Amino acid sequence: MKTAVFLAAMASSTWAFPIMDDPKTAQMAREFLERYQAGPRDLSNDPLGISKAQTNCGPTPCTQSPAASNIRGPCPGLNAAANHGYLPRNGIATIEQTISGLEALYNMDPILGAALSAYAVATGGNVLEGVWSIGGPLPEDCLLNGLIGTGQGLSYSHNAYEGDVSIGRNDIYTNNGDAHSLNITKFEKVYAVSGAENRYTLDKFRARFEEVQDESIANNPYYFTGAFSTVVVVPAAYNFVINFMSNHTEEELSGYLDGYNFKSFFGVTGESGSFEWQRGQERVPDNWYRRPTSNQYTAPDVFIDVGIGYAAYPNTLKFGGNTGTPNSFVGLDVANLTGGIYNAQDLFEGDNLACFSYSILQEGIPDFASNVVNGLSAVTSLVNKYVGPLVGGLNCTQISGQSTELFNDFPGYKYSPTGPDTNY
Ligand code: HEM
Repeated sequence: MKTAVFLAAMASSTWAFPIMDDPKTAQMAREFLERYQAGPRDLSNDPLGISKAQTNCGPTPCTQSPAASNIRGPCPGLNAAANHGYLPRNGIATIEQTISGLEALYNMDPILGAALSAYAVATGGNVLEGVWSIGGPLPEDCLLNGLIGTGQGLSYSHNAYEGDVSIGRNDIYTNNGDAHSLNITKFEKVYAVSGAENRYTLDKFRARFEEVQDESIANNPYYFTGAFSTVVVVPAAYNFVINFMSNHTEEELSGYLDGYNFKSFFGVTGESGSFEWQRGQERVPDNWYRRPTSNQYTAPDVFIDVGIGYAAYPNTLKFGGNTGTPNSFVGLDVANLTGGIYNAQDLFEGDNLACFSYSILQEGIPDFASNVVNGLSAVTSLVNKYVGPLVGGLNCTQISGQSTELFNDFPGYKYSPTGPDTNY
């Protein structure tokens, strides 16, 4: 029976076995399976040489390329996790799978994993099924009964989760709705910040964030910032590169990130000047060790690191956007956005940044909930259940009179393309 399950898995198109990449071998496996199911059950000859082709990981190879049906998206950390089986290889995960997979691979604090994945379910997944996609729209056939409709996935969660000014992806408006494919020219620029010492740091990445903002303002007529995605998620992603992708060795316990590790996680091969992005091939580098077990990266750490970045590079804290042409940036005052509760100075005192971030997240819910299938109350209660605890213990002043209506003047605020039915 075990053998039958194994062969069925090998022959099935939803499982990706490197040795099955060859269509002829896959066909042979299917025929062998049919023969096995129909008749004599003598496997002693191993006519396909499956035994010899296996790695030391058993039936499922430990690293593998995604199959054509597998979903990958804008986040190299998640793509690599799925490629190594820490997340389901098909790219569709539950909250529980995300919590355990990201804790095992990166030592992400479970509360942070829960909040990030619940928000993904809420913004572009399926609340009833409790699943989300790390890339494009959820395929209907993965949902029970196939009747519930689909969320658009991370790739098409613009302004809810995905935002402008990414490390290596284009602003969505300037790339015809594709903010998930790596732009190798942009990657070249961030790659270069390691300098002669071949080391990336939080500070170098924060400085690069400011440069990319300036590039977006100069080139993207729909550049927009002010939502949770652009104020928290995007700068947090810059910090994630250093905090989660650094290699922690005996010699360098605090971790280091060099060009080799950076390229591997981003699925890039070749040398500077002739880099190539290998779509879907994001890999945890060989001989790589995650951050220490005793030092999980937590939700408060996310806000502290984002806050340090804004304090060190104050120009990067922006609310507003371009008004339809490049270089037309109009900024909004934090005080006007928050009914006078916060201003740009005291935003970094105490718990203010975390409190403010949660309130702009909540403000955005009606907008993204109207785009997806889940319904406002289901989305709100999911967010409250998993994201709410992050601010539960904080000292937050209730903001009333907060107004995102001020954002309506910016065309980038409402721009929200939906995805083609592709896996990437
Ligand atoms: C459930 C957990 C996670 C979720 C929901 C998530 C979601 C996202 C989203 C929506 C983006 C697009 C943001 C943008 O527009 O730039 C993104 C980008 C990114 N994420 Fe994640 N992420 C998660 C975990 C991680 C982890 C663990 C890492 C690091 C190991 C990581 C590293 C990155 C990086 C480096 C980018 C920027 C990619 C680029 O611009 O080229 N993320 N992530």
